[in-house]
Order: sequence, then structure tokens, then C-alpha cells
Amino acid sequence: MVEQASGSYPWWETGVIYQVYPRSFQDSNGDGIGDLNGIRARLPYLKELGISAIWISPIYPSPMVDFGYDVSDYTDIHPMFGTMQDFLDLTEEIHLRRMKVILDFVPNHTSNQHPWFLQSKSSRSNPKRHWYIWSDPKPDGSPPNNWVSFFGGSAWEWDHHTGQYYLHLFAKEQPDLNWRHPDVVMNMLNALRFWLNRGVDGFRVDVIFLMIKDALLRDDTPNPDWTPARPIIESTLHDRTSNQPEVHQIIKKMRVVIDEYDERVMIGEIYLPYKDLITYYGEQFDECHLPFNFGLIQRPFNAEAITSAVNEYEKLLPRGAWPNWVLGNHDQPRIASAKRAGANARLAQMLLLTLRGTPTMYYGDEIGMVNGQIPPDKYQDPQARNEPGIAFSRDNVRTPMQWDNSVHAGFSTVEPWLPVNRDYTRRNVAAQREEANSFFQMVKELLAIRASSVALNHGKYVFVSHGSDDVMAYLRIQGMVKLCIALNFSDEEKSVNLSSVAERARVMLSTEMDRRGETTLERLRLRPHEGVIMQVL
Ligand code: GLC
Ligand code: CA
Repeated sequence: MVEQASGSYPWWETGVIYQVYPRSFQDSNGDGIGDLNGIRARLPYLKELGISAIWISPIYPSPMVDFGYDVSDYTDIHPMFGTMQDFLDLTEEIHLRRMKVILDFVPNHTSNQHPWFLQSKSSRSNPKRHWYIWSDPKPDGSPPNNWVSFFGGSAWEWDHHTGQYYLHLFAKEQPDLNWRHPDVVMNMLNALRFWLNRGVDGFRVDVIFLMIKDALLRDDTPNPDWTPARPIIESTLHDRTSNQPEVHQIIKKMRVVIDEYDERVMIGEIYLPYKDLITYYGEQFDECHLPFNFGLIQRPFNAEAITSAVNEYEKLLPRGAWPNWVLGNHDQPRIASAKRAGANARLAQMLLLTLRGTPTMYYGDEIGMVNGQIPPDKYQDPQARNEPGIAFSRDNVRTPMQWDNSVHAGFSTVEPWLPVNRDYTRRNVAAQREEANSFFQMVKELLAIRASSVALNHGKYVFVSHGSDDVMAYLRIQGMVKLCIALNFSDEEKSVNLSSVAERARVMLSTEMDRRGETTLERLRLRPHEGVIMQVL
């Protein structure tokens, strides 16, 4: 067998991150909204599953216009989620169970109810006026430039009281902070320290690549391919609002704070092409430990597109940079849904958990949860409400965790804030725990294999080329240990020739979970949508 995973790598390189969307994970007090004590109650489950770190989406005080991504106090807990003591207890218990806790940090914007913004908008001469980005209108009264909001419409909102526009790249209730102001920098860095001092193991930093905008407020280049059937955010190329060179200086400052503490991680949420994404490691590896890699989300889920994403990323990664992979999050259609992996949902998990680099899983993906079907008149997501019929409603990927087949799926005793997906009576943790070879059992097994395999943890990635376009094959190699992973993305049985690797191998796990033992690599047969992990003999 493979050797024991060694302790010489940082935890965020060998571990698996699991994202909890706190409103939807577990309600503990019967108000239909998930909370910290709910997460705490489910820690045995997460430990059983075998994940290493829990990233919790924002739990700070917030008017909840963007469900917590509009923060009105960076150093407290929203009463809806619990108290500071609940948070400290949760952190302690996570640590007792030898797991880590990662908080979401939202630096690009605050809530419009944050005391800083209330002061900023109170008058043009308020000392906090320039903590945010204010600008005069054009002579005709229109917004200063063509910048658009991710949630629809102009990114500028008129403030009648002081006669200027303020910038908001998201909802108008989420004004953008001015990171060129030294007091903003100081206060935000102190907010990081506040949580680090309370034992938090790191941060996932929200839209880190947007924190600095062009100082001269020049127009973004219009996107020639945009049509009004597409969300307005796609109408420009964001060359002045995203990925500005100056942003790296800010990120370095954040990293200095992170490094004041032992073993803390900084993860950046960055939607950029690989060539730009990799610059967020920092030239001296002094920026993000893990700039989130959304390549598996942004490309169609077929063998060709995924193979090229993986190989391109592996090739572009600077020497010494540690890779990472993400299949889903609270903003993206669920991986198991028909429009993403669909019938390849098991294979997708095998891919995520056998590639080189830290995997981030999204809650519910371990039981193959699919998108909810929330009717448009019930939408709560500001993105979908502002551009009805055009923007994807993220509500559908935030439905309550499906724990069992009782009313409300074991998530709550009352009607949850978003409806439980109808398939919960069949698809739930309790049922899959009982069922041999279930989706849950497979993911658990994958996590167990990964945890005990140095080759999967830290081995080299080597692509294996062969005849078939539908099967992706690669090796993970560490010392003498060589694992071969073969994934059949198609809905047909495939026989592939992997004899360039070796003659024989032993199947450790199939996505179907019904197959083990020796096989020839010259004619490796894979059923439709089947993936296998093999130990090369
Ligand atoms: C990030 C979050 C998303 C949020 C947005 C604004 O993309 O993941 O949920 O709406 O930033 O904070
Ligand atoms: Ca609750």
C-alpha cells in the first residue's frame, strides 16, 4: 500500500477544504436559518466525511441584502448566527477535532449600513468621505463612466444629499471601499488580526482581484460580443475595474498580517484567466497561498475541456506554487446538475480529489445535491432579482442541506428560508449512509484514500495520452508509488490502452464502488461515466 501522508507540508496543501454556507447547513434554534450551533452539531459528520478545514461564508452582522456579503461590522457575529461565544466554542471544537476554520473576509465593499459608510455619506467634508469612492456626475448628470454592477445596471448610485455618485460593483447597498485610503487599509488589516487572535486558521478573501479600480475612473472597454440577452456585467471587459496592478500591493499587506501568525492561510476568490490568476501567488510567493482556481467551473464538463484546463494550469503554475481546484460554490450551478457534470457527478468528485492541489468542496456535493427549482417570484438573490430571466439565481445552489427524509430534511423544524429541494426524500445523508456504494460512501472513500496517500497528496501530476478523446488519464507519482486515474466522461463503454504506463494495475476504487483487484492496462475497460483509481503494479 501507499505510505502514510507525512506531516511536513502545510495543512492547506494536504487537506481538503469544505465550504459551509451557514444559512443553509443546519438550523439549531428553529428560525429556519442555519447557524453556528447548527454547524457545531454537525462536526461529527464532517469529521466522519474526512474533510480537514471548514470555510464558513460570512457570519458577520449584515442587513443581508447579499446574504452576509454586505458586512456592517467586521468584528462581530450576526445574532441570527449566534453570539461571539458560540463562535469561540465552535472554533474550539473544530480544533479539538483536529480540523481548521476559515472565515470569509469581504474587503471590497461594506454594507451601506456600516457606520463608516453612514459617516461617509453624511457630508462631503466628513473625515470618512474618501473611505469610499465618490465622484461628480458627468456634465449631463449621468454617472461618471460606463462601469457596470455584477448585479445589474450602472455601478454608480446617485446620492441626492451630497450631490455625488458612489461606486458599488455589486448591489447599491454594497458601496466599494477606497483601498487607496491608508485608514481603510489599517482598519481592515486590524479586522483580520481580530479574528486571527481568536484562533481563526485563515481567510477566503472575497473578490480580492477587484479591490483596486482605475484611479482616473476611465471607462471599461465595451465588450463587442455582448448582447442584451446576457447579464449586463458582460457588457464590458473590466480592464479598468478588475485585476489592476496596484491590487498586488494591498494583497501583500494582507499577507504580511497573515504571516504574523503561525500556519494561517490566505485564499483569494479570483475569476481570471490562468495567465492572470497565477500572478496572485505573488512574485515572491507573498500574496495568496491559494488563488482559487475555477477552471473546472468555467469550462464545459467534458474530457477535452477538462483535460486542457488541467494541463494548461499545471503548465502555467510557477515553480513552487501550490495548485488548488474548486468544483462548486454558493455562486455557481451545482456540479451534479444536468447542465454541469450531470451523469458524470461521481467522476467529477474523483477528479477533484485526485488532481494535484488542494480541493475545495461545496456542502451537499458529497451526496450529489443538484440545483433547486425555486420559482422566479420566490427569488431572494439580489443578482437574479435585479436581472430577472437573465441572471442565474444563486438561490438554487443555496437550498438547505439534505440530512434525512423527515420534514424539512432534518435542516430545521420550521419552514426554511429557502425551500428544501424536492428530491430530499431520496437524496439525503441518512439514506446514503445506509446504502452501500452510495454517492456519499464513494466521496468518503475518496477522501480516505486521499488522506492516506502521499502520491495523491503531494505526488507529481503526469498526463497520460492515449487513443480515446472521451477518457482522461493521468498519473500521480511519489517515490516508488504510482497511481493511475482514468475517467470515462462519455455515456458509452470505452476500452483504452494505457500500456505505456505499465502492464498491470490494481483498482483501488471505482466510482461505481463495485470493482477492485487486478486489471490489464492494455485493454482497460471503463463503463459509461466510470472513473477508477489504480495502483500501478
Ligand atoms: C463574491 C461572493 C458572492 C457575493 C459577491 C459580492 O463573488 O462569492 O456571493 O455576492 O462576492 O460580495
Ligand atoms: Ca437558526
